[in-house]
Amino acid sequence: MGYRTLFFALSFILFAYYIHIPMPEGIDDHWRLAVIDATIQIVSNLAKLTEEIGLMKYVEFLRRTMSLHLTNPISDENLTVIDVDFGDIPVRLYLPKRTSERQRPAVIYFHGGAYVMSSCKLSGYDFLNRWTATKLDAVVVGVEYRLAPKYLFPVAIEDSISVVKFFLQAKVLAKYGVDPARICFSGDSSGGTLAAAVSLVLQNDPKFKHKIKAQALIYPGLQIIDTFMPSHKLYQHGPLLSREMTFRLLTPYMADDNILYKAILNNQHMPEGSRHVFKFVNWSTFLPEKYKKNQVYTEPILGKLNASYPALLDSRMSPLLATDAQLRNLQLTYMLTCEHDLLRDDGLIYVARLRKVGVQVTHEHLENGYHGALSFATAPFNLKLALKIRDMYITWLKNNL
Ligand SMILES: *[C@@H]1O[C@H](CO)[C@@H](O)[C@H](O)[C@H]1NC(C)=O
Ligand SMILES: *[C@@H]1O[C@H](CO)[C@@H](O)[C@H](O)[C@H]1NC(C)=O
Ligand SMILES: *[C@@H]1O[C@H](CO)[C@@H](O)[C@H](O)[C@H]1NC(C)=O
Repeated sequence: MGYRTLFFALSFILFAYYIHIPMPEGIDDHWRLAVIDATIQIVSNLAKLTEEIGLMKYVEFLRRTMSLHLTNPISDENLTVIDVDFGDIPVRLYLPKRTSERQRPAVIYFHGGAYVMSSCKLSGYDFLNRWTATKLDAVVVGVEYRLAPKYLFPVAIEDSISVVKFFLQAKVLAKYGVDPARICFSGDSSGGTLAAAVSLVLQNDPKFKHKIKAQALIYPGLQIIDTFMPSHKLYQHGPLLSREMTFRLLTPYMADDNILYKAILNNQHMPEGSRHVFKFVNWSTFLPEKYKKNQVYTEPILGKLNASYPALLDSRMSPLLATDAQLRNLQLTYMLTCEHDLLRDDGLIYVARLRKVGVQVTHEHLENGYHGALSFATAPFNLKLALKIRDMYITWLKNNL
C-alpha cells in the first residue's frame, strides 16, 4: 500500500471518528459545524505530529493551513479596497465610493487568531469588513498587526495602538472624510481582546485627547489568569475551540517554551504573590446564578513556575485585570457572547464588571452559538451563525455609532 493510500485511509478513519463526537443539542449549523470541527481536530493532530517529529512548529502548521483563504484587495461598485501602511503597519482600507455630505463613521477592526495566525485578509474578515463599510457607509480599517511566535507580547497590542494613533491624526481623518466623534474599535476572539485592551490603554492615557465613541467585542478572550472557569470545563473539547488548542495557540505569544503551556493547562501558571488579582476574575462573584450552578470555586495555586512571565500580570493581555477606576473610563460597549464557547465566562464577567462601574453595555448572548464562526462566514463553510452575528453587530453599530 502506497503512502498516499495510507494517508487517505488514516484521514478517513480520523474523520469518521471525530464526526461522531456529539454536538450540543440545538446548536446552530449542526452538521456543517461537525464537519469543520472534525477537520480542525485532524489539522490540530497533524500539527502536533509535525511538531513532535521536528518538521514544523504547531502554530506554523495551522498558520499555513489558514493562509489558503487569504483574499486580494478587490474594489467593487460601492467600495474602494486598498492595502496600505499606516506608519510601519499594514492595513486594509475599505472606503465607500459614494460622495457624502457628512463625515463618515469609522470602524477599526482587529481580527482573531490567538496572535499567532489569521489576517484581516482572511476571506471571513474581508467579507465582514466589506459588509460593514457598505451597510454603514463607514470607513473600515482592517489591522494587520504582527504575529507570534516571531513577535512576542506586547507587539500585537503596540502595533494596534500605533495604527489607531496614525489613523486619528487630523490630516488622515480629513483625507478619508472621517468624523472623529464616531469611531469604534471592534474585534472577535483575540481581536476582541485587542479592541478591549486598546480602549483601556487609550482611554486611560491623559495625553490621549480623542473621545472614542464605542467598542464592539465579539466572543472575546479577556483574561488568562484563571483557566478553570466553568465555561473552560464545560467546553474543554470545543466545539471548534478546545481548551488544549486555545492554550497551545496562545502561549507562544507570551513565551517560546512548553513549560508555560503545561502550567496554563493545569491552571498553575500564576506567580507567587498574585492572589490579589483573582478578585477581578472571580467567577464565583461575577457570573449570573444560572452559570454557577453545580460549579465549585477552587482557590488558585500559585508560584509553581520558576520563570516569571510579565504578560500574565498585564491588563493589555487580560483586560479583566484593569481596576474599576480604569474600567470606568471606557466608552459605550457592545458585547456578544456564545453559550458553547470556553471563553464565554470572560465576556460575561466583563459585562458584570463594566456595568458595576456604570459603563453603558449592550450584551447579546447566543444560546445556540459557538466560538469562531466569523472566520467561516464564506464558502466553502457558509456558517449561518456567522451571518447572524454579522447582522447583530451591524444593527448595533447602525443604532449606536
Ligand atoms: C452596493 O450597494 C447597493 C446598495 O446598498 C447594494 O444593493 C449592492 O449589492 C452593493 N454591491 C456590492 C457588490 O456589495
Ligand atoms: C472568590 O469568591 C469566593 C466566594 O464568592 C470566595 O470564597 C473566594 O475567596 C474568592 N477568591 C478570590 C481569590 O478572590
Ligand atoms: C524549578 O526549579 C527547580 C530547581 O532548579 C527544578 O527542580 C524544577 O523542576 C523547576 N520547576 C519548573 C516548573 O520549572
